[in-house]
This record gives sequence, structure tokens and C-alpha cells, in this order.
Amino acid sequence: MRDKPTLQEALAHNLRDAEPQEAQALIDTISCIAYACARISEVAGLGVLAGAHGLADSENSQGEAQKKLDVLADELMSQHLEDCGHVAGWASEEHECHLLSRRHARKGGYLVVYDPLDGSSNIEANISIGTIFSVLPHVYQGMLPTDSSYLQPGSEQIAAGYVLYGPATIMVLSCKRGVLMFTLDKRTGQGGQGGEPARWLLTQEDVRIAPHTKEFAINASNQRFWEKPVQRYIAECVAGESGPRMKDFNMRWVASMVAEVHRIMTRGGVFMYPRDTREPRKPGRLRLMYEAAPMAMLVEQAGGRAVNGTHDLLEQVPDTLHQRVPVILGSRDEIDRIVSYHADPHENVSWQLFKTRSLFVQPQA
Ligand code: F6P
Ligand code: MN
Repeated sequence: MRDKPTLQEALAHNLRDAEPQEAQALIDTISCIAYACARISEVAGLGVLAGAHGLADSENSQGEAQKKLDVLADELMSQHLEDCGHVAGWASEEHECHLLSRRHARKGGYLVVYDPLDGSSNIEANISIGTIFSVLPHVYQGMLPTDSSYLQPGSEQIAAGYVLYGPATIMVLSCKRGVLMFTLDKRTGQGGQGGEPARWLLTQEDVRIAPHTKEFAINASNQRFWEKPVQRYIAECVAGESGPRMKDFNMRWVASMVAEVHRIMTRGGVFMYPRDTREPRKPGRLRLMYEAAPMAMLVEQAGGRAVNGTHDLLEQVPDTLHQRVPVILGSRDEIDRIVSYHADPHENVSWQLFKTRSLFVQPQA
């Protein structure tokens, strides 16, 4: 006998204070995304047997080589979003411009932004990868969305989540009412080819991030490019018991943001892909709309904090769909400390200003 609520049951309970029609539309939309991710999980789980390893002979929106699994995951998300009657359009890491739903562009009340396959450098090494998604309101429902319809700050997200394809497939989700964790029950469903999807079961409610930690994650090979506040924070962690922090820290780096954030959800920690001086035109590595903003919402909803160094990431209004930002997130006390280092006048941080007021312009239908 099943004693754990399904995704739909848990969401109905989580959204019990919402207007019933709106709650149902959101449950339907998240169910479509969850179905797509269950299919991605099947393909990823077959490894080389699915024929989806290796390069796809194409490039994504930012000129990066696409893997076959990037392309496949993107197609699965697109297919399932098309089947959902509430999504007017979507934008993905894999396409320069947003895509319109063929049937629901003038009807849907939501826009979805996603990274179909995060951490794709890890595919062939059989290390955890993931999908990240964000559900935004289509403010001018009834009109055709344009790229600028998506340029809303993370605080406007209606829901955000990620799916981790690890030893277990896990979805972590927030509809701004705390954070829920689901596990894909791979014993259910008929698998692939449009059969009955496997069932997602609620395995943790009210996920909380521990405020203190002794663990940090950063790509240390970039150290020479970091700015002073990050140099100081990491140097103090590395100094351990004999330094100003008077405790030893441990370091982790998976190179899959989803796996990194999931570790923080389960036992606290700090994840940083900070601003660096490698390429002055790129203020960070990670993308605001489909990496930083959804993760920031999940982390904040779990009691943690997510910033770009000086400001909360959820306040940042995107200039473009694929904008990159610095990301520092995790256990609240540590992030407060890192923000205070950035605010310290001796650290010479000259880039505090960024756009927080929406310049959201809705073009003609
Ligand atoms: O999508 C970007 C990403 O793959 C993240 O998942 C990960 O945190 C980061 O890039 C890894 O970067 P690097 O290759 O510098 O370790
Ligand atoms: Mn990614």
C-alpha cells in the first residue's frame, strides 16, 4: 500500500489557500513538467544504451557545443509543455529566442523557462545531472508573448524547481509555500513511448537549509580571477581551525549546479560561482533566468539566502533571456557574512549597481 501522497495530491494540499482554478492550472503545468522529467530520467538512466551520449554536432544559444542529451531533454520538455493547456510559451538554454506554444500561445497564463540538462559535462562520466525550471506569469494573457514578456525578476516566479538525475530521481519544488521534495517511483509507470508515466511521491515536506555549515563549493581553478571579498572568504575557510573562523571546513565541487544545490538542501553548505575577471563582458558563469532565479527561490523558501554578492538574486530584473550573473547561495549565516565582505569599503567592490526596477515592456500582439 502506498502511504506517500502523489505529486498531484501533495500540490493540491500545498495550494489549498489558492483560488481553485488557478491551483488546478498550476498543478497541471507542474505535472506536465514532471512527466517530461520522468522521461528524461529514463533516457539518462539508460546511459550509453539510449544512444544519447556524445556531442550533437550543434551549438546552443550561447555558442556552447550541445550534447545529444541536451537536445533530447529540450525536445521532451517542449513536447510536454505543448501538451499542457496553460503555457503560452517557453524559453530554454538551448534556443536563442523563446518559443510559442502552437495551440495555447493566446490562451496560456504561464511562461516557462528551463535548463533542460544542467551539468551536461558530467553525462559520459555518469555523474549526477539535472533539469531546472521556472514558472512565470504571462502578465498579458491573451496576447502573444515576446522575449521581453519573460524579463521579470525572480520574485515574480509562481513556481520553481529542479529535478536531480542521480542514484534516485528527485524533484525539489516550491510554489512559494515552502519547499517540497518528491522521489520518482521507478517501479511504477510503463516507461517511454507515451505509456503511463512513473509516479512522483512526496518524500519530504518543508525542506529547510541548516543556517550554519562547514562545507563550501567553488571551482578553485578560477581563484586567480576572484574578487577580494571571495578571496577573503575562501582563504578564511581554508585556514580552518587556525584562522579567524576557528573551525575546519570541507570542500566539494561536482560541476552540476543541481547536485550542488541538492547537497545544500540536505545538509547545508555554500555554493559559489562568483563574479570573476576572466572575461569582463561576462559577469558570471550561470544564467539568471533558468539557473540562478529558480535556485534562489528554492533556497530562500527553504530558509537559506541567494545573492549575487551584494544583492538578493530574486530582486534582479533580467536584461536578456540568457543573461549571466554571479551566484552565491546556501546557508543563511554564511551568505550574510559573504555579503558583509562585499559591503566592506576596504574590499573595493565597484559593481553594486544593477537593475532592480522592472523595465518590463509588453510589445504588440
Ligand atoms: O550549467 C552550468 C554548469 O554546468 C553548472 O551546472 C555548474 O555548476 C557549472 O556550470 C560548472 O562549471 P565549471 O565547468 O566551471 O566547473
Ligand atoms: Mn546549467
